[in-house]
Amino acid sequence: MKVLNFGSLNLDLVYQMEHFIRAGETFAASRLDKFPGGKGLNQSIALARAGAEVYHGGNVGPDGEALVETLGNAGVDTRLIRRVEEVTGHAVIQVDSRGDNSIILYGGANMRVTSGQIDQVLEEFAPGDYLILQNEINRVGEIIEKAFEKGMLIVLNPSPMNEEIRKLPLEKVSFFLLNEIEGEELTGKREPGEILEELLIRYPHARIVLTLGGKGSVYADAEKRIYQDIYKVEAVDTTAAGDTFTGYFISTLIRTGSCQKALDMAARASAIAVSRKGAAPSIPTLDEVCGAGI
Ligand code: RIB
Repeated sequence: MKVLNFGSLNLDLVYQMEHFIRAGETFAASRLDKFPGGKGLNQSIALARAGAEVYHGGNVGPDGEALVETLGNAGVDTRLIRRVEEVTGHAVIQVDSRGDNSIILYGGANMRVTSGQIDQVLEEFAPGDYLILQNEINRVGEIIEKAFEKGMLIVLNPSPMNEEIRKLPLEKVSFFLLNEIEGEELTGKREPGEILEELLIRYPHARIVLTLGGKGSVYADAEKRIYQDIYKVEAVDTTAAGDTFTGYFISTLIRTGSCQKALDMAARASAIAVSRKGAAPSIPTLDEVCGAGI
């Protein structure tokens, strides 16, 4: 079974700050790091490190070759990545002293996905293959429609959440992986139980994973709910923790068929990611996750 992740590739500029910058304020960062990132790229790396056969679809500009190389080195198939004239997508990220982040995104090449490109990429896949999507590229709705026609299983991480998400053909999505804030914006409900109930009323055949920050995560479908605690670590940088969770959950689910095991591996891997700096570089290998004493 193949996994196609059609998603963003970003260059992350990460500024270490005592606190997030306020309106009108000028404040010096204590450190600048440049990391490969983008929710798409991060999730592809997590999927591959957790053992899946992953193909990445998406765009880079002339300044994005290092990102393609990073994916390749992690074991991701990069042959479906297109080169465009537009500058590569990038993110300006502030990380504060508690490890929290705030992100400015510039879509660039990520927003140059074309209809013809979608057809060409999907040609490589068959019914039953997985498609993973986030919300950092254009034409997400068209990709969902076409992949559904092909019989692919569609996984959506509706992040970053915006109005465009509501316009997507969400009834064609098999799996939602989202956090509480995204869940609230999508359903209008606040309590995790109510968010899950509302999503299952709207999409009764969907399978849902809701992450609850420090309170863990929960899997829900029409028949069952499974809860998972977090593994506690000292937070250094939370960037890409959600992406690591998504990649490890889907990859482990494909490998083992067990939601319980997938939630546990995702919780372990994202705890390790939180304890390290950067997006892609913080994503652990399977050996690290299995060997970690957490
Ligand atoms: O989820 C983390 C990612 O969000 C960063 O790598 C950044 O590029 C933004 O897309």
